[in-house]
Amino acid sequence: MKRILILTVIMASALSLSVPASAQKAKNGKAKKETVIKLNAPDMENSVTLMEALKNRQTNRSFATQELSWQQLSDVLWAAAGVNRPDNGKRTAPTARNAQEIDIYAFTPSGVFLYDAPNHELKRVADKDCRSGLYNGGNFEKAPLILVYVGNFDKMEGFNEEARNFYSATDVGFVSQNVYLYCATQNLSTVICGSFNHDHAGKVLNIKNGKLLLAQPVGYPEK
Ligand SMILES: Cc1cc2nc3c(=O)[nH]c(=O)nc-3n(C[C@H](O)[C@H](O)[C@H](O)COP(=O)(O)O)c2cc1C
Repeated sequence: MKRILILTVIMASALSLSVPASAQKAKNGKAKKETVIKLNAPDMENSVTLMEALKNRQTNRSFATQELSWQQLSDVLWAAAGVNRPDNGKRTAPTARNAQEIDIYAFTPSGVFLYDAPNHELKRVADKDCRSGLYNGGNFEKAPLILVYVGNFDKMEGFNEEARNFYSATDVGFVSQNVYLYCATQNLSTVICGSFNHDHAGKVLNIKNGKLLLAQPVGYPEK
C-alpha cells in the first residue's frame, strides 16, 4: 500500500500541466480524457517568507508559453482558495458568512477545469484548449494557466441580490491576492483582469446562477 502511494506521488510530481489531457485508452479502445484529476498536496517547504512575497507582489503582463509544473499548478490553486483547515473545511481565502462562493476555473492547454477545493481535485468542464478568445487574441492568452473566477450564487442563498453582488466582488479579491502572493514566491507573472471576454468565458462555462467576476493569467515571464 505504502509503495503504491509513493509511486503515485512520484508519478504525479513528474506530470506536467499538459498531462491531464493525455488520452487514456478506454475499454473500447477509443481515447478518453480523465474527468477528475487529483492534485498534489501543497508543498509546505516553500521557503520564501510572507514579507518577501509582499515585497515582490506585482502585476506583470509578460507571459511565456512555458507550462507550470504539476506541483505549481496544485500549489497555486491551493493558495488561491484551498482548504487549509480540514477539520472545518475552511479555506485560505475568507468569504462572507463562509459562503465559499468563488468558483475557480482553470483554462489550460489541456482543457478547462473547475477546482474542487474540498477534494483538492480538478473536474473537467471542457476537453479542449479554450484560452483563445478570452482576451480577443491578446498576449495574456499565451499564459499556460488562466484562472477565471465566478461568483456561484447557488452558494449564496441567504443573501439578497445586492449582497450577492457586493460580497462575491469583495471575496474574489482575497483569492486573487493569494494567487499574486504565490506567484511572487515563484517569480511567476500574473495580472488580475476585469477586462476579459465575458461572452467567450460564458459560453465555455455555461453558468446558470452566478456571475463572471475576474480573470487572472499565470505563467513565466517572457524572456
Ligand atoms: C479589480 C481590478 C481589475 C483589474 N483589471 C485589469 C485589467 O483588466 N487589465 C490589466 O491589465 N490590469 C488590470 N488590473 C491590474 C491593475 O492595473 C494593477 O493592479 C495596477 O496597475 C497596480 O499594479 P500592481 O498590481 O503591480 O501594484 C486590475 C486590478 C484590479 C484590482
